Amino acid sequence: MREQLEKLKNITLQAIKESSSLEELQEIRINLLGRKGELTALMKGLGLLEPAERPIVGQLVNSVRDEIETALAAATESANQKLIARRLQSEQIDTSLPGRHPLKGTKHPVSLVIEEICSIFAGLGFAVAEGPEIEHDWYNFEALNFPPEHPARDMQDTFFVEKSLLLRTHTSPVQIRTMLKQKPPIRIIAPGTVYRCDSDATHSPMFHQIEGLMVDTKVTFGDLKGILTVFTNQLFGQKTGVRLRPSYFPFTEPSAEVDIACVICGGKGCRVCKNSGWLEILGAGMVDPEVYRHVQYDAENISGFAFGMGIERIAMLKYGISDMRLLFENDIRFLRQF
Ligand code: DAH
Repeated sequence: MREQLEKLKNITLQAIKESSSLEELQEIRINLLGRKGELTALMKGLGLLEPAERPIVGQLVNSVRDEIETALAAATESANQKLIARRLQSEQIDTSLPGRHPLKGTKHPVSLVIEEICSIFAGLGFAVAEGPEIEHDWYNFEALNFPPEHPARDMQDTFFVEKSLLLRTHTSPVQIRTMLKQKPPIRIIAPGTVYRCDSDATHSPMFHQIEGLMVDTKVTFGDLKGILTVFTNQLFGQKTGVRLRPSYFPFTEPSAEVDIACVICGGKGCRVCKNSGWLEILGAGMVDPEVYRHVQYDAENISGFAFGMGIERIAMLKYGISDMRLLFENDIRFLRQF
């Protein structure tokens, strides 16, 4: 039995020395000390020995077991260390590598212009109003005094959703919605998206406008010119020339188109202003009494003006962009410049 024990010990210690993984060590432990292990079997055989021999052999078995346990623990520890070392090596992070910089977004030029215009008008006491992009014919045309056969109602310009539902072709219906909701005095601007069936270098089927409306008891054409002059001077610079030309809109009377001195050539004449020295930037006029009639205002005792402008056109002039389509292609090389 002694010899058997000695042999088992030597074989096992050798196996522990030669083992290279935690799995192998675990297998050795089970084969020796598990329920069906060799040393366990030997211990069970102690009862068959002479009573006098039992304590001596028992002690020997214990010491062999302890020795093996110690060797196993040491080998397990060193296998664990090797495993950790290998992982540290393979998962090493090079902290000296430069970081990756996420691209920072910028505001779209159209948003920049809307914000700037809203803030100029906020300084003049105008609040921001909004309306739906899918609009009823009545708000988009009828209440704005477009006669039934007016060419702007033609399918060429308007995207219809249903018979009398359409994608608004301008922000002017917000005038109507505002006047129906509140009584004068009114001072609002309404930025928003509008739609027209038109597409080339200076037209997009989806674009943006800002509408303005001021209604009170004694608003004059002079107020209109004053407000628009302050506005264009703030947007394009103090010395920008402004001129008003007679025009026609169904919802204003009298109506005007507002030009600024060409921001490219300063008025001398160039390709952008088609050698006229002037650039048209908005439409305006005194609100037509017919419009007041549709919103049940007393046209005798109030007066007001309205104006409307295209944002993309202003953005193109302000930033020197020659093709409107650039604004909607979302090419990051273009957008990053703003
Ligand atoms: N709604 C017009 C358009 O889309 C622009 C406009 C012109 C608005 C004159 C106005 C105005 O309020 O008074 O072309």
